Amino acid sequence: MSYFSESGSAEAVNSRMGDQTDARLALVMSSLVTHIHDFIKDVGLTQQEWEYAIDFLTRTGQICSGERQEFILLSDTLGVSMLVDAINNRRPEPATENTVFGPFHVADAPIRAMGDTISLDGKGESCLFEGRVLNLNGTPIEGATVDVWCDNADGFYDVQQPGIQPKWNNRGRFVTGADGVYVFRGVKPVSYPIPDDGPVGQMLGLLGRHPYRPAHMHYLITAPGFQKLVTHTFVGGDDYLASDTVFGVKDTLIAPYERVEGGDTLWHSPFDFVLVPS
Ligand code: BEZ
Ligand code: FE
Repeated sequence: MSYFSESGSAEAVNSRMGDQTDARLALVMSSLVTHIHDFIKDVGLTQQEWEYAIDFLTRTGQICSGERQEFILLSDTLGVSMLVDAINNRRPEPATENTVFGPFHVADAPIRAMGDTISLDGKGESCLFEGRVLNLNGTPIEGATVDVWCDNADGFYDVQQPGIQPKWNNRGRFVTGADGVYVFRGVKPVSYPIPDDGPVGQMLGLLGRHPYRPAHMHYLITAPGFQKLVTHTFVGGDDYLASDTVFGVKDTLIAPYERVEGGDTLWHSPFDFVLVPS
């Protein structure tokens, strides 16, 4: 047994752990304690900074609600969400890469007929999204559910503007047939700021960072026998691709957005998704 000391601080805490503690919990907690203690020593944390940190975390919790998860925003903006995602979704080529899920998915969006529009407010530049859901050998996957969501032309998700946007605006689910094809109409997404009126926005400001995400369409693709794919397609050329505030951009996820001349749809975005067997 040792009393607490500056030099042996982490050991003092970790040595209190009971023998019966779950092995994984013991590993995670002892590593966490060791890293936090090392960090505090590394920066020589002042009492005032510690108080600020406690207040920051308190405010982060207090602003959370059923509609807002500030801790996930904190994780996203510190690159933690993308790191956890990367570690847990290592995939062989040519599988489509994962990216951050984000807080704006809503379960059980309407199942729409192939080719239908997801844009219910009629705002924005029309775009046709199409492609196939394939396995690693390039064979089409039948019965894949392609769940999509994006912001409207003003840069807001429907759930951020209840009463202003129609419910389920820019959302829908499409189920592939034997050809693995999905096709739907919508609007070309626009870049938007993540909610930045809380502690995370304040942190970004203090760090000289902007709160913007480059324009993207979200996809959650599930199919029996395959790993879930959580991803986006990004609009090439967007000003924020290199500085996405949540670090979600990957080269392979930048999709073509081709201007269509003379049709009733302004843009065309083709993209195939490749799933990995589970
Ligand atoms: C999103 O893309 O919807 C998103 C992702 C992370 C934080 C906020 C929004
Ligand atoms: Fe988004």
